[in-house]
Amino acid sequence: MSVLSTKHLLGIKYITTEDIQAIFKAASDFKEVINRPIKKVPSLRDMTVANLFFENSTRTRISFELAERRLSADVLNFTASSSSVSKGETLLDTVKNILSMKVDMVVMRHPAPGAHHFLSKHIDANIINAGDGTHEHPTQALLDAFSMQEALNDNLKGKNIVIVGDILHSRVALSNIFCLQKLGANVKVCGPPTLIPKHIQELGVGVEYNIRKALEWCDVANVLRIQLERQDTKFFPSLREYMLYYGINKALLDDIGKPITILHPGPINRGVEITSDVADSDHSIILQQVENGVAIRMAVLYLLSGKR
Ligand code: CP
Repeated sequence: MSVLSTKHLLGIKYITTEDIQAIFKAASDFKEVINRPIKKVPSLRDMTVANLFFENSTRTRISFELAERRLSADVLNFTASSSSVSKGETLLDTVKNILSMKVDMVVMRHPAPGAHHFLSKHIDANIINAGDGTHEHPTQALLDAFSMQEALNDNLKGKNIVIVGDILHSRVALSNIFCLQKLGANVKVCGPPTLIPKHIQELGVGVEYNIRKALEWCDVANVLRIQLERQDTKFFPSLREYMLYYGINKALLDDIGKPITILHPGPINRGVEITSDVADSDHSIILQQVENGVAIRMAVLYLLSGKR
């Protein structure tokens, strides 16, 4: 039985602030574990977790696998490109076949928004959403918010956080908005009008089209990748023009002259969303995000499994 209010992690929208705090508390404990010489605990030693990736991933896939191994789970990896999906097998048949091998938990990335909701109506195993199309990426939002709290040495209540870039195609943006609001932060989005969803204010977020004003307002900027692979029409004239109007460089940060923490969920297009002198500067906590990702995913797996 899950220790959280839900059996699955389908999205941040469906969990409570108390769930988020419980995940952060467990992640802090696991972060201490993974910085020890012996980084493993036996918490999930009798469990099997399947990582089902129907879409490309570097960070999330590796981070989940490492989290599962650190918890001593048995791990099964599946990638769609080398599977019988290419022979026409349905998602449900693929997953049911894998589950018949006595799998307890499923971590899945899928290009179709809602694929995890569909699956949750048909299978018993716990499901963790590792990204569903342009919908949600809950563990990314959890690790982002956890990393922000760590960098600010404070909780996020009343903090000003701007999410910059391709909001329209981003699952990270929606999960971040839900998570940051549940933690009491003020959230704005910033980007070209063509990359901001039309009715986003209805989610209670502000919209700022000027990057300098957005940065002057914020304590933290979470900078998103331009998702060219999801853009079937041109949303801005060129990457060079995007960089000129929305790219964050060190000269701009120096000119604003206040401490702004910069995150990027990766993968980065260096020289497009941020320049290297920002990505590798003291403003940036990009590698801390990746480190915290393992602890957050250990916490989610552990709490959903119901182990204590
Ligand atoms: N941040 C993120 O989801 O990266 P990957 O696509 O490499 O998993």
